[in-house]
Amino acid sequence: MDWFAWDFNHPAYFTIYADKVQEAQVEGPGLTALLDLPPGSLVLDLPCGWGRLHPHLRAAGLEAIGGDLSPLNLVRHQAEQPAPLVRLDFRALPFRTACADGVFCAYTSWGYFATEAENLRQLEEFTRVLRPGGVLLLDLAGRGYLQEVTADVDDVWLDFPEEGYQERVTWSSDDRRIITERICQGARFCHDIWIPTEAEVRGAFETCGLELEQVYGGLDGQPWTQSAERRIYRAIKR
Ligand SMILES: C[S@@+](CC[C@H](N)C(=O)[O-])C[C@H]1O[C@@H](n2cnc3c(N)ncnc32)[C@H](O)[C@@H]1O
Repeated sequence: MDWFAWDFNHPAYFTIYADKVQEAQVEGPGLTALLDLPPGSLVLDLPCGWGRLHPHLRAAGLEAIGGDLSPLNLVRHQAEQPAPLVRLDFRALPFRTACADGVFCAYTSWGYFATEAENLRQLEEFTRVLRPGGVLLLDLAGRGYLQEVTADVDDVWLDFPEEGYQERVTWSSDDRRIITERICQGARFCHDIWIPTEAEVRGAFETCGLELEQVYGGLDGQPWTQSAERRIYRAIKR
């Protein structure tokens, strides 16, 4: 089974990412403001996870439809934030071409696939479902930031007793992917995520027919810098 189908669909995932509930109070309004679409716009929240950002899209008057691969996340979403939800895979979205005003892709949810072709396919699918002039908001971790914060702990197991898990981060030998292993509630997890360079993101946008409008380095809309913790791309479908 692919790591992303297993890791995000295990109950321990909610323990490991428990702090993201609180963080949604800041991330939700911040990312929704950067998406910057008028009330009534149809936004596909891809992936929606357990719906922690959904109320903030709704609060801005947006019509949000969520999609995710994980049944466990979708069940929690429906219980906590009832909404139109679809189980889907990024590589073949079950939506009509040009149906959406926006695609909202939060919290480093690109780069999960093993091949460049599949990762490009995800972006092509995001572009396909956008109407011309529609907006993609792609919220990625900063590559320089990740390299900096992992430099001293690379390949070292760290214990997070309060959070209830152990973690080891390593980079792939070609420096392209970050591999995060975790042990929680007796289960082992291994995220394996491509962290693209700035040039690679821009190249992929170009290939897909997305015009990059802005890269933000944080939720307050500050400009992106090499060391910024986040890279939040706002791109327009041509
Ligand atoms: C880091 S979470 C982010 C969720 C949400 N955007 C948020 O900020 O809370 C990544 C999500 O991607 C989903 N996912 C992973 N691989 C996927 C795929 N191939 N197709 C659709 N969703 C996928 C996972 O199930 C998980 O809910």
